[in-house]
Amino acid sequence: METKRVIVDGVTEDPAFDEAVALLKAGEVVAFPTETVYGLGGIATNDAAVTAIYAAKGRPSDNPLIVHIGAFDQLERYVDNISEKAKKCMDAFWPGPLTVICHVKPGALSEKVTAGLDTVGIRMPNHPVALRLLRQLDEPVAAPSANTSGKPSPTEGVHVEEDLTGRIPLILDGGATGIGVESTVIDLTLDTPTILRPGGITKEMFEAVIGPVNEPTHIEQKAGAPKAPGMKYTHYAPDAPVLLIDNDEVEVKEALAALHADGKKVALLAPDHFGKLEADWFFTFGDGTHEQMAAHLYDALRACNATNADVVLATVTDKNDMGSAIMNRLEKSAGGHWYEG
Ligand code: TXA
Ligand code: MG
Repeated sequence: METKRVIVDGVTEDPAFDEAVALLKAGEVVAFPTETVYGLGGIATNDAAVTAIYAAKGRPSDNPLIVHIGAFDQLERYVDNISEKAKKCMDAFWPGPLTVICHVKPGALSEKVTAGLDTVGIRMPNHPVALRLLRQLDEPVAAPSANTSGKPSPTEGVHVEEDLTGRIPLILDGGATGIGVESTVIDLTLDTPTILRPGGITKEMFEAVIGPVNEPTHIEQKAGAPKAPGMKYTHYAPDAPVLLIDNDEVEVKEALAALHADGKKVALLAPDHFGKLEADWFFTFGDGTHEQMAAHLYDALRACNATNADVVLATVTDKNDMGSAIMNRLEKSAGGHWYEG
């Protein structure tokens, strides 16, 4: 299959949207940008389209997909008994980087979307290209991140091209996504709202709107707290092993020297000022603020695959606000492993 990548901005009229809508209506899949990462979309009521999404990504079929909508009035077609807290969150943060787990209306969506669960994750993305596509289509779009399963999520159209060329017909390329990590997933079907995946909408932001919210740690999630089914799979991993290290120039310098003495080639992922150290490859986290780290993280992890590094060293940040989402992704890409000198 030939894969076309078309640059669009979501504001200017463009025949690429008609083409995307026609492909989707024919049960095909199309990649598109959101404010978090690129999604690989298919119509969520169409079993064949949803099957094609799992196949293109090589994703295990017990990991449910998020359903994207472009307007509030679409919501009640697919979900039942929306709680007051859920409504408040949607009003406060949609369109935006928030996925709300709700009770699915029986039969309203392909069962393959929910992987057999009686709940569904719904989100209204805040990106002009995504919104234009969703509104023109007026159908619910199931869309996981548009990467090969296990790899870092795509934050640029070319990342999608790297992973999915030959497997999908069309990529709507809206340039680099803004936030850079996936949406926050919150389960609002539980007595206490629970964050299943941290993201751009933080615990503090929810609590200002709906009161107390649980955010189980990685370890608590492993011990059986409510979780997103996708959490058990490897995620965001470049080919070489990733080791976490403190955001400290002296420590990183010593680690580089020790790894080099061991004959290892090292790719370093860290804020700009670490660029002067003697890593074999350096990929920046920008100025190291949470915003810039999130925006650069997946591009940096992906860039490691174009090197022949034996080890990837990545500097960490605190877990306040967006730091929680960044550290969740970094810990997974490293499988929880730290550099130990
Ligand atoms: O930012 C995003 O959310 C991106 C863009 C494309 O919208 N999408 C995305 O989708 O990250 P995906 O499929 O890569 O991640 C979906 C996550 C998985 O961890 C999955 O297990 C969880 O949401 N999830 C989906 N439906 C769920 C449900 N009913 N209950 C619990 N977790 C669910
Ligand atoms: Mg994903």
